[in-house]
Amino acid sequence: MDPKPVRRPGDLTGRTVAVSGASSGIGLAVTRRFLQAGATVHGLARRNALIEKKADNSAPAPGRLHTHRVDVCDPDAVDRWAATLDGPVDTLVCAAGTNIPERRLSQLTPESWSKLIATNLNGTFYLLRALLPRLRESAGDVIIVSSVAAAWPDHTGPGYQAAKAGLLGLARGAGLDEHRHGVRICTVLPGIVNTPILDNRPEPPPQDLRELFVQPEDVAEACLGAVTLPHRASITEMTIVATRLQSMGNTQAATPHPAPPVA
Ligand SMILES: NC(=O)c1ccc[n+]([C@@H]2O[C@H](COP(=O)([O-])OP(=O)(O)OC[C@H]3O[C@@H](n4cnc5c(N)ncnc54)[C@H](OP(=O)(O)O)[C@@H]3O)[C@@H](O)[C@H]2O)c1
Repeated sequence: MDPKPVRRPGDLTGRTVAVSGASSGIGLAVTRRFLQAGATVHGLARRNALIEKKADNSAPAPGRLHTHRVDVCDPDAVDRWAATLDGPVDTLVCAAGTNIPERRLSQLTPESWSKLIATNLNGTFYLLRALLPRLRESAGDVIIVSSVAAAWPDHTGPGYQAAKAGLLGLARGAGLDEHRHGVRICTVLPGIVNTPILDNRPEPPPQDLRELFVQPEDVAEACLGAVTLPHRASITEMTIVATRLQSMGNTQAATPHPAPPVA
């Protein structure tokens, strides 16, 4: 028998989800999709007003979206936020992340390295730690947004790649510790996704190519599938790439272009 909450494919009725990075891109798309699927969503970001503005009309019923101004790099702020939550949280989606234009090894400084690790890696640990008692109580679900940059070297830079590979280590270790408590942990490794993070690149990709990229809504749909799969089965890792532009291990190009079909 499935423990609570009940998992029915695509249905989040009665479930309570916390999403970091909810003001933009993948986290925003997850917030919108999960609201549509019936969840109550706690959206976190520094620009919390943006979450309200962009996601509030996605909820089929009023009062399902709660927004919180939290900097995930600050462990005390994360703990304080978690202490304000009333009731269960059965799903955590960690999508907050960042990259910087000066990303090459020769350009990284101790400060920029620390920022990349703090936002992309430490923030996820702080959230997971703060919500773990609730996630255990509900035999809950965790989605950790890493990147294909964790698996293959690419243009994103060694600081970002170290943080994203760290997330894989965190998720695999946490999965070993927590599966016996019924907590499912799924790491998502997206390739190129059409979100504002691409504008932080030294050379942002051209707009006309972006419709071929994975869209944030695609990632949200995959996350919904993972957290509503019957509880007996666990998707531990998902790689999602742009069909026409990338494939497993073929994700190095900063701006991929469609390859001609194989004859
Ligand atoms: N787009 C891609 O091609 C791609 C590929 C692979 C992986 N990813 C990963 O996907 C995740 C989502 O990125 P995205 O593409 O959706 O980028 P995005 O549109 O730039 O969104 C990043 C989100 O992270 C939040 N964030 C950043 N620093 C934060 C902090 N210190 N505290 C709290 N929230 C913070 C931002 O909110 P505020 O600024 O309002 O705080 C924003 O909501 C990231 O982990 C990224 O590394 C993206």
